[in-house]
Amino acid sequence: MEKLLLLSSFTIMLTWMVPGSCSQTNIVLIIADDQDLILGGLTPMVKTQNIIANMGVTFTNAFVTTPICCPSRASIFSGQYQHNHLTLNNSVSGGCSGPHWQQRVEPQTWPAILHQAGYTTFYAGKYLNQYGYKKTGGVAHVPPGWDWWIGLVGNSRYYNYTLSVNGTSVFHSDDYFTNLIKMYGLEFLHQRHVKEKNFLMVLAPPAPHAPFTPAPEYKDSYKNVTAMRTPNFNIPVFKDKHWLLRMSPSPLPDSMLPELDRVYRQRWETLLSVDDLVESIVIELYSLGLLDNTYLIVTSDHGYHVGQFGLPWDKRQPYEMDIRIPLMMRGPGLPRKQKDVRPVLNIDFAPTFLAMAGLEPPAWMDGLPFFPLLQQNANNGTKIDRKFLIEYHGEGSMKTISSDCPSDYSDTLSTCVPEQMCKCQDSKNNSYTCVRHLEDLISNHNFSYDFIFCKFRDSENFTEAYDLNVDPYQLNNLAPYLSSIIENKYITWLDHLKFCSGLTCHMYHDLNVQNSP
Ligand SMILES: *[C@@H]1O[C@H](CO)[C@@H](O)[C@H](O)[C@H]1NC(C)=O
Ligand SMILES: *[C@@H]1O[C@H](CO)[C@@H](O)[C@H](O)[C@H]1NC(C)=O
Ligand SMILES: *[C@@H]1O[C@H](CO)[C@@H](O)[C@H](O)[C@H]1NC(C)=O
Ligand SMILES: *[C@@H]1O[C@H](CO)[C@@H](O)[C@H](O)[C@H]1NC(C)=O
Ligand SMILES: *[C@@H]1O[C@H](CO)[C@@H](O)[C@H](O)[C@H]1NC(C)=O
Ligand SMILES: *[C@@H]1O[C@H](CO)[C@@H](O)[C@H](O)[C@H]1NC(C)=O
Ligand SMILES: *[C@@H]1O[C@H](CO)[C@@H](O)[C@H](O)[C@H]1NC(C)=O
Ligand SMILES: *[C@@H]1O[C@H](CO)[C@@H](O)[C@H](O)[C@H]1NC(C)=O
Repeated sequence: MEKLLLLSSFTIMLTWMVPGSCSQTNIVLIIADDQDLILGGLTPMVKTQNIIANMGVTFTNAFVTTPICCPSRASIFSGQYQHNHLTLNNSVSGGCSGPHWQQRVEPQTWPAILHQAGYTTFYAGKYLNQYGYKKTGGVAHVPPGWDWWIGLVGNSRYYNYTLSVNGTSVFHSDDYFTNLIKMYGLEFLHQRHVKEKNFLMVLAPPAPHAPFTPAPEYKDSYKNVTAMRTPNFNIPVFKDKHWLLRMSPSPLPDSMLPELDRVYRQRWETLLSVDDLVESIVIELYSLGLLDNTYLIVTSDHGYHVGQFGLPWDKRQPYEMDIRIPLMMRGPGLPRKQKDVRPVLNIDFAPTFLAMAGLEPPAWMDGLPFFPLLQQNANNGTKIDRKFLIEYHGEGSMKTISSDCPSDYSDTLSTCVPEQMCKCQDSKNNSYTCVRHLEDLISNHNFSYDFIFCKFRDSENFTEAYDLNVDPYQLNNLAPYLSSIIENKYITWLDHLKFCSGLTCHMYHDLNVQNSP
């Protein structure tokens, strides 16, 4: 009760605040792990919606260009498509925190550029899935450009994890990780120099990634919530979907649904701690008088599915649940309570944050800055034509195939476990490239083209295509019915985008940006 009162009076205060006079431009980026947009992933974050979305801009068409952690995070930090940063999967052999990344890409990430431009930089949370292990340089490897480095070793965990704290290994058994990230964030803000020099703060909590462990105070907060029964929830999959989805069991037996409900609800419970994290940071910035000089951005590394098309729970698919992400931001000069329908991508973050800091984004970045455009009241009548690439390299590994699942599974499959009825979550031939196409904004919530066209690299050259305007849940694969003119058009775009780099990618992204001089 007390907390609620505090929040509402706090929100009112913010509304009345006058712009600060100091010339600092700070950036605070919060990246959740596996938080979806379209299955209600933002629902538990009520405070965040009040203090970020309602005080700023919400992007209703934000996408990742690859729906998997390490490659998408590599895109977030580099501003590049996967085929340019070469982080292809979550393994070191696939480039995750590997030599190419560390030697060639990591030194020119946007945080490193901001650091060279004089920013004090702070990172706390999950970084890349293979970070901190002996084979990737151990905890002593602090990525270039970070003054404060609190990097998680390996993949998301809530308890019992090891951190690199400025290059030194620190183990925590009982500290709930999201809350520890909050503690470090506040400690950083309490430094005196924070008020004197521009800073960048990245907070990357583990939530709502598996194992979905809520903080004790939020255990059972959503006791009665069940997984969203979208029109494509656990439907049987026939010939019009690619091979992995057709594997048995399809659909999942009813006995499995309580497990899907549990996963869904615990994901929400873990996000309540992220909501607290955002609130604490915003309150602290406010009390330091820095809120008006700070851009705050809340997003995720990709989406997620729970039960859609009979897949248990994971990401890695080219469907809307997995490729759409939450994205909201507030900050100096940005409009309030605004929804922006323009399509923006994870590869746009790098050039956007550089533009926010007043720096010219390098032309080799594949994404485009959407920062100047934020300040224009877009929407009706704005011309948009954006075609972008979704790329994914399917994983297969003996390590994640349980011996309790059918023995003919080879190392070309991945994550086949009895808890998920041995329904495999990935496969080497779950490899694909897609063109996602949005064109011609004709009203606030509609496009004349809202389309996806995907080619799988499997023995069938499988193709999937959906018209999202009429089929938002992707129930009808249009690939067999496309005219050859349309099909060839998408294949041509795909062939170009698969190899594009910098300017040759920008050609496909007309966001109607009135370019800064
Ligand atoms: C990490 O290093 C920075 C920069 O040297 C320093 O200010 C900060 O206190 C260190 N943080 C911790 C937790 O040791
Ligand atoms: C951490 O790991 C230890 C040893 O495996 C285990 O006993 C303990 O319960 C774990 N702690 C938490 C909070 O999960
Ligand atoms: C869940 O539902 C039960 C029965 O309808 C109700 O008694 C209980 O208060 C609900 N719990 C929560 C946390 O909403
Ligand atoms: C990751 O990518 C590398 C390089 O393509 C490949 O050799 C490796 O098998 C992949 N890892 C998995 C688990 O699929
Ligand atoms: C945008 O245009 C559509 C169609 O002409 C109209 O229905 C809608 O009210 C307009 N929205 C705004 C914010 O002007
Ligand atoms: C959006 O526009 C398309 C093409 O003009 C149309 O087919 C579709 O019905 C529209 N959808 C909505 C929700 O208005
Ligand atoms: C996909 O890979 C599996 C495992 O190697 C194989 O059995 C299956 O035939 C492949 N399917 C297609 C369509 O390539
Ligand atoms: C798949 O595409 C390749 C290259 O375009 C072609 O050589 C092959 O015959 C195709 N396979 C099938 C089953 O269509």
